[in-house]
Amino acid sequence: MKYGYFDDRNREYVIERPDVPVSWTNYIGVKDLCAVLSHNAGGYSFYKSAEHGRITRFRQNGIPLDRPGHYIYVRDDDTGEYWTISWQPTGTDLSIAKYDCRHGLSYSKFSCDYQGIQASQLIFIPIDDDVELWDVMIRNATRKQRHLSIFSYVEFSFHHIEIDNQNLQMSLYAGGSSYSDAIIEYDFFYEPWTFHYMTASFIPDSYDSMRDSFIGTYHTESDPEAVSKGSCFNSSELGGNHCGALHKKITLLPNQETRLVFMLGVGDRKTAKNIRKKYSNFTNVDNAFLGLREYWMAKLDKFQCKTPHDGLNSMVNTWTLYQAETCVVWSRFASFIEVGGRTGLGYRDTSQDIMAVPHTNPEKVKQRMLELFNGQVQQGYGLHLFDPEVFNPPEAKLPGVRLPTVVPTPRPADIIHGLQDTCSDDALWIVASVCEYVKETGDLAFFDHVIPFADGDQGTVYEHLKRSLDFSAEQVGKTGICLGLRADWNDCLNLGGGESAMVSFLHHWALVNFIEAASFLGRDVDVQKYTAMADKVRRSCEENLWDGAWYLRGFTRNGLKIGSHENQEGKIFLESNSLAVLSEAASLEHSQKCMDSVDKYLYSEFGIHLLWPSFSKPDDDIGYVTRVYKGIKENGAIFTHPNPWAIVAECKLGRGERAMKFFNSTLPYNQNDLIEIRQSEPYSYCQFVMGRDHTAYGRARHPWLTGSAGWAYHAVTHWILGIRPGYAGLIIDPCIPADWKEFEINRQWRGAAYHIVVKNPNGVQKGIKDIRLNSKSIKGSIPLQQAGTTNEVIVEMGH
Ligand code: NOJ
Repeated sequence: MKYGYFDDRNREYVIERPDVPVSWTNYIGVKDLCAVLSHNAGGYSFYKSAEHGRITRFRQNGIPLDRPGHYIYVRDDDTGEYWTISWQPTGTDLSIAKYDCRHGLSYSKFSCDYQGIQASQLIFIPIDDDVELWDVMIRNATRKQRHLSIFSYVEFSFHHIEIDNQNLQMSLYAGGSSYSDAIIEYDFFYEPWTFHYMTASFIPDSYDSMRDSFIGTYHTESDPEAVSKGSCFNSSELGGNHCGALHKKITLLPNQETRLVFMLGVGDRKTAKNIRKKYSNFTNVDNAFLGLREYWMAKLDKFQCKTPHDGLNSMVNTWTLYQAETCVVWSRFASFIEVGGRTGLGYRDTSQDIMAVPHTNPEKVKQRMLELFNGQVQQGYGLHLFDPEVFNPPEAKLPGVRLPTVVPTPRPADIIHGLQDTCSDDALWIVASVCEYVKETGDLAFFDHVIPFADGDQGTVYEHLKRSLDFSAEQVGKTGICLGLRADWNDCLNLGGGESAMVSFLHHWALVNFIEAASFLGRDVDVQKYTAMADKVRRSCEENLWDGAWYLRGFTRNGLKIGSHENQEGKIFLESNSLAVLSEAASLEHSQKCMDSVDKYLYSEFGIHLLWPSFSKPDDDIGYVTRVYKGIKENGAIFTHPNPWAIVAECKLGRGERAMKFFNSTLPYNQNDLIEIRQSEPYSYCQFVMGRDHTAYGRARHPWLTGSAGWAYHAVTHWILGIRPGYAGLIIDPCIPADWKEFEINRQWRGAAYHIVVKNPNGVQKGIKDIRLNSKSIKGSIPLQQAGTTNEVIVEMGH
């Protein structure tokens, strides 16, 4: 069953049936101001942090789904009937009202055709202003004159999520609202620098800034009293719950249309006044929207492909990059799943996310790397989850103001955890990301950039990387395999003094990346030292981890094997095997064999399971994973994030058919007409899909903020399509299904453009016979061309 389609030309996903099983969300805003909105305009907005910069309220995990939201009501003043431009909250009968939602790149457009009134609400945030614009068009498609009332509605939130949810005896009296000159100003008496506002391009006929007046006692957003009555109550007050409701009466002749712009912003009345002036001129609205389009097109233009696979094209050219960028900006902490409980960066998550986007967002990637290095301690491990602002606090706005509800100010010393809370993998992921960034940008000087450690002293980026590698070399168990510590990539595998095969393979991968960089920089002493370290890791892995047909996942602190054919449950795991191959630590024979086992035991039509069989008996030596229901999340679900590791592994083995089979199984696009099973949005990778051991096998959960997006993007662009920057040239090394005859890439790299046509006349899966750069045959990678040039590259695959 399907609910919508991919509109590739406009780079939008169009939801034609709004009664989808779960909320299908989008991220509006590319800088500090953000709204996470569903296909029904439900959701919330915040400034900088979903935890302490809340603007609008959201009742998470509630019923009905995704309320409240950013709504426009349309009322027929002749009949008293009313509806919303998004299907919810009025939920107008879909057999008589036509609704659709277009989720685009940092905007969503809701449309409704009902009672002869065609209405649309486009929501977006201009790149350079902290204001959410609702560009509303109302058209009378009937032959008679119509009298309508239009109302906006948002429910304001207290600024800090904790204050919004707790200690209401204090918070309910700490914010106030006032109205004048078409502006509702929402102010925080306790936080005198914080103001939000709602204004519009017109002079309202009535307004409400008190939620309970607009909605009415025992009414909801579905039937607000103000809208039923046809007019707001002109309410405002100091204290209470606040909202942004502005009402305008309009009269439309047959075929006449009108445009109204609503503005929900950050700042006080004075700011609102300026913004109102600016965006009451609709040319500025149009230009701002154009600016946003151009912002995204400039990013997408860095890498575009045309292959025989429509789904791959749609996802790579638009959606997966968009998702990967979103993860880099918000880490994991602003969604319908994480609704403001945390602020900052997950060390391992952000370290991996940034690897996907150095070509489209080098500034943000650099900023994130610096923040992460600042969160690394001298011993080499990373702080698992931290807010970079703790190390670089913004200037206090008004020193001396103290909240009555105590929210302690974090200090660096409070967040520097010891080894008992350290994850064994965290600081290893950043090695490859730094290398990818330098290969993309050519910014070699970055290796020598000096950054403080979290617990004092400082070092160059290069030194920080060495500390990560040395830490893992020291933290090993009896067999030489890395200790598992608090957890490794798998949050729920808590091996402590036990050993993690996955981390040893990851260590090897980080070493391979580092050695390549050190060789390019001519730092020979380090090349020798770390090559010896890599040899040692490889030997330990081969000597201790091979299980006959695949690699183990590790050992418990009591030396029992995990991920062995000898086990009853958790016999084979995806992470250790895919990383064994990806990291190039495994021998060719073992690589092929272990990936064959992954295919045989873990693969399914919806992706590769994380382990098999799922655990049914709690075993705290293995960890929390054994206390998760079978087939869910880390206990035997199809955990999407490590699936691309298997794709890269297969590409390294030259098995394009298998790589494509794996890619196809998790590709959300491929499940567009299986929504009765998938449920979640088909334009976003989800964190996991219920596994075979669960009754809801195939159901996807936790969209958007997951490492799956960045890794999927990396796997396709760098390994299937095989276009990846090196330090000195652009490497071309595709690994594709044999029946692909040809594909094309447009890639921008360090200021020059490359139009690459890859032909496969011999039907191979991997191998290059000939490369022509601007008609001249070349060997190896494509040398860097002059900035500003466009270069034609013809590649012939073959043996
Ligand atoms: C989600 C977490 O954000 C990520 O850090 C972790 O690697 C996966 N879960 C697997 O446990």
